[in-house]
Amino acid sequence: MIDLHSHILYDIDDGSKSFDMSIEMLRMAAACGTTDIIATPHVNRRGVVPEWSVIVEKATVLQEDAKKAGIPITIHTGAEVEINFEALNFLKEDARDYCIAGSRYILCELTNQSEPKQTEHLLFELMVRGYRPILAHPERYDRIMEKPRYIWKWLEKGVLTQCNGGSFVGYFGEEVQRRVEMLARKDMICFLGSDAHRTTVRNPDLAPVEVAIKKLTNGAALWQRCEDNGRKLLNKKAIYPSIEGEWREEKPKKKGFFAKLFG
Ligand SMILES: [Fe+2]
Repeated sequence: MIDLHSHILYDIDDGSKSFDMSIEMLRMAAACGTTDIIATPHVNRRGVVPEWSVIVEKATVLQEDAKKAGIPITIHTGAEVEINFEALNFLKEDARDYCIAGSRYILCELTNQSEPKQTEHLLFELMVRGYRPILAHPERYDRIMEKPRYIWKWLEKGVLTQCNGGSFVGYFGEEVQRRVEMLARKDMICFLGSDAHRTTVRNPDLAPVEVAIKKLTNGAALWQRCEDNGRKLLNKKAIYPSIEGEWREEKPKKKGFFAKLFG
């Protein structure tokens, strides 16, 4: 798998705390079959914007150390950019800073206060500036997930999505798991990421995630699609969302007799 979202670099955000932790995280990633991992430290969280050159330098150093440690994994540069109107000040037209592996794809984070209309404005503004936004873990945003038809619309316009492995195994709670499974059923997921911060909880081990995803209807296809899309991104090929037709709201499941009685 290509892990599109990780806080693998140490001493730059709330992710890895040390060289040893980063190396151990890389070992865990490689052990579950991750071949490539994108280093996506937080950028513009509470207004803190690390220099792009610092991110590149840290990723280069960690890659060398991983090689020395004999860990078979490739680290690519990237960032998880919180998008708001301040972000438009440093995301210049046609630049590639903070993008993934030298591409035009940029991983975009929202906040729980982000609402669909303003988010749409920001996403489209980025596209006008030559970026291809990838929305990080939409399943975690309450206000966006109240109106998932917006995500469908954004996918139609060329915005892509990355969901967190932890969401499929209940790490973020039942509601987030329910949402990510809905996105999976509707083919609205383009990439997977561990969003790993540590070796303990929120770690880069995607093995349990693979099991959980492959239990879903069309889960094997979803897993494969995310891997293929990751590969395409690294090869600088165009990626198309896999949605088809019109957005359709899912009807809430009717409760059966026993569920009504005991649910
Ligand atoms: Fe993250």
